[in-house]
Amino acid sequence: MVQCPLSPVLFNPTEPSFGRCPAFVDTLTAPVGSTRGLRGPVRFGHDQATGDCGFREMTSTLEARELVVVREGRRILDRASILVRSGEAVAIQGPSGSGKSTFARALATLVEPDAGAVLLGGRDARQIAPTQFRTRVAFLAQQPAMFEGSVVRNLKTGPALHGESLSDAQANDLIRAVGLDEPILQREARILSGGEKQRVALARALANAPEVLLLDEPTAALDPEAGERIVALLRELRARGLSIVMVTHEDAHARALGGTLYRCERGRLAIDS
Ligand SMILES: Nc1ncnc2c1ncn2[C@@H]1O[C@H](COP(=O)(O)OP(=O)(O)O)[C@@H](O)[C@H]1O
Ligand SMILES: [Mg+2]
Repeated sequence: MVQCPLSPVLFNPTEPSFGRCPAFVDTLTAPVGSTRGLRGPVRFGHDQATGDCGFREMTSTLEARELVVVREGRRILDRASILVRSGEAVAIQGPSGSGKSTFARALATLVEPDAGAVLLGGRDARQIAPTQFRTRVAFLAQQPAMFEGSVVRNLKTGPALHGESLSDAQANDLIRAVGLDEPILQREARILSGGEKQRVALARALANAPEVLLLDEPTAALDPEAGERIVALLRELRARGLSIVMVTHEDAHARALGGTLYRCERGRLAIDS
């Protein structure tokens, strides 16, 4: 059993409810046998849900089909669809209040849609164990929650949950890759600035070698230079085979990602051509 850092609840990592613990959303580790850190996406592994071992495709297609989310009588998402192919970068840009965060959370299966479906590798996400889904699709919230303890502990928690270890050298590589300096590894994660937390959350997600990285406004709390560095890192990760979905209100960052660009307007998504 593992205690959720955000609540007194104890979770059993082998039970589906574990994947619903908000603190573990971007910390669940990749299965044994995956590649780690910046070396690339998951290549093969042990299926937590079925117990099957064996090769699987390097990355999977992530799809949202006609998602509808209604809140307080309003359609926040109005048949929003997206297709993210393996190794593709997708930016979703739109004004504040247009439904971007709701869409990102629905795509991460953190919001239950009133209609429509999310599919990973062609399979309905409702048929995939939440722990497995979270392992494969890492979600970075706009204001990520840090675990108690140091930054390095935050990076090592996900791998440790699956009996793997992230070496100090790998932790150093990850923290430098997100534009932070090594001394930050020893600092208490919960008292970092918003921008530092976002970058630590990105490093923490990468420590788990996901197939798809889903980011909600990863540059919003950063100064322009740090924001551009994160976009450059995302481009590099895409070049290594990771699928990227970035939600942003900043048009320049959406374009700089260099992939497919969607516009979000009043809960609907359309490819910007
Ligand atoms: N749980 C909720 N209940 C009621 N309204 C919500 C809820 N979540 C989001 N909204 C509303 O839905 C709209 C879209 O929100 P959001 O997805 O956060 O947009 P964005 O990320 O593009 O700024 C906003 O008007 C927001 O107030
Ligand atoms: Mg938002």
